[in-house]
Amino acid sequence: MTPRTHLVIRPSILYFGTPVVLLTTENADGTCNLAPVSSAWALGQHLVLGLGSESHTVRNLAERPELVINVASPELWEHVERLAPLTGADPVPEAKRPVYRHERDKFAAAGLTPAAADLVRPPRVAECALQLEARARALTPGGAGHFVTAECEVLRVHAAERIVVPGTQHIDPAAWSPLIYNFRHYHALAPEVGHGFRSETARTAV
Ligand SMILES: Cc1cc2nc3c(=O)[nH]c(=O)nc-3n(C[C@H](O)[C@H](O)[C@H](O)COP(=O)(O)O)c2cc1C
Repeated sequence: MTPRTHLVIRPSILYFGTPVVLLTTENADGTCNLAPVSSAWALGQHLVLGLGSESHTVRNLAERPELVINVASPELWEHVERLAPLTGADPVPEAKRPVYRHERDKFAAAGLTPAAADLVRPPRVAECALQLEARARALTPGGAGHFVTAECEVLRVHAAERIVVPGTQHIDPAAWSPLIYNFRHYHALAPEVGHGFRSETARTAV
């Protein structure tokens, strides 16, 4: 008989540890919205985002597709958490009312600093070491209307000098670390265990 090693469970959430990004989008009145999201992954020069269909971010992207995807690092977790109960939507959608409140100036609420982007109207988050200017190319509804998948083309990458391998176009994985959302807890990366065969930044042993 196979020994029992796993339990069959029904967890209320499936956030198994993905990076936190802060999305800036433009509101109808020209001000900006700022929202934390952890459903984000890269495919070539595109990023795919999973967004709740009632988020103000989706509404903004449907009308004004420019955005900046600001990748947070571990030291920013408290700033991210200050944004957690906020929405740019006014009025707050019925389903979000028990937990969320409207906030117009999320940069101030989070204690973060806007910095002008080069190619898009929403600002970058100055404190984020990696900032991706982008344009949403497709918004696809899913999950029986509960979420929207946004495919975004990255137009320009801004990387803090300290995380770039000098004289190259490469991010140094030893200098960069994303903030990870792990079943509603915030984590930093643990030490490296190895590298992929296509790594362009592997260090040779000394
Ligand atoms: C760490 C973290 C990760 C989150 N991940 C997502 C996500 O992947 N997708 C999403 O739609 N909402 C996510 N949320 C919730 C949104 O931030 C929340 O719905 C917020 O109200 C959206 O802001 P908006 O309505 O102004 O766009 C996350 C929140 C936190 C704090």
